[in-house]
Amino acid sequence: MHQEIFDLSGRVAVVTGASKGLGKAIAHALAAGGADVALYARNKEELEAVKASVESLGRRAEASCVDVLDKQAIDENVKATVRAFGHIDILVNNAGVNVRKPVLEFTSEEWDLVLNTNLKGYLLMAQAVVPDMLSRGYGKVINMASILGTVGLPSQVAYASSKGGVMQMTKVMALEWAKRGIQVNAIGPTYFETPLVAQLRNDPERYGFIVDRTPMGRWGQPEELAGLVIFLASRASDFITGQTIFIDGGWTIW
Ligand SMILES: NC(=O)c1ccc[n+]([C@@H]2O[C@H](COP(=O)([O-])OP(=O)(O)OC[C@H]3O[C@@H](n4cnc5c(N)ncnc54)[C@H](OP(=O)(O)O)[C@@H]3O)[C@@H](O)[C@H]2O)c1
Repeated sequence: MHQEIFDLSGRVAVVTGASKGLGKAIAHALAAGGADVALYARNKEELEAVKASVESLGRRAEASCVDVLDKQAIDENVKATVRAFGHIDILVNNAGVNVRKPVLEFTSEEWDLVLNTNLKGYLLMAQAVVPDMLSRGYGKVINMASILGTVGLPSQVAYASSKGGVMQMTKVMALEWAKRGIQVNAIGPTYFETPLVAQLRNDPERYGFIVDRTPMGRWGQPEELAGLVIFLASRASDFITGQTIFIDGGWTIW
């Protein structure tokens, strides 16, 4: 196996939700693989810290304050990223939120927030980025799904619906661009230790349930996404499209 097929040198990636958690780890992984990275999220201070850490890996980074609920901001910032870097090769749709509540207590506003951030935001980002990829005949889109895209858990009605939607969106995007050099795949993580799940981490009963439910008996660490992200972003995965690859310590196999 030649290591060059994993090489991301000269590639430019956009990562949404790059200010913390898995997005930050993804930005670091892509930079370690050789890519320059445009970091999108809302928190300027946290983005600047991630930018500095990517630069310390010897790669170029730009931090952009972008709300994925705001189509105009997306379109303007993607244009600015293309101007700054010349092109975009890799889009990682990662920004996400969750509201955990029983079905009967969910408000319309909470539903809209989760579905619009986790699903519509991915659509709007792809609509802004992929035309440039199509014109060059090359691109990798990686959508962040979840084990909750395929299994259910109580109090996850909007989140699980959004992640199931991400898996289906991934298939449709993959089909539409399959003959035009773009591969679209999704990553389906189990529980990883990030701010999104801080509440669960601090609840011994919920933490223990997740450990017990996982064949490998533990949570994931953000750095453990690196290999899969580099694989899906690189030429190593050129004949794979429309798939969701679960990184879950075995959760979804039983
Ligand atoms: N951690 C897990 O256990 C786990 C498991 C399965 C799937 N995932 C998925 O992985 C992704 C990242 O999760 P995480 O655990 O890293 O979450 P996190 O630590 O809460 O980070 C979420 C990221 O999304 C950004 N974000 C949220 N709303 C946004 C918006 N409207 N516009 C732009 N950026 C926005 C946040 O940045 P700002 O606040 O700065 O905007 C932040 O960078 C999500 O899609 C999540 O569903 C996570």
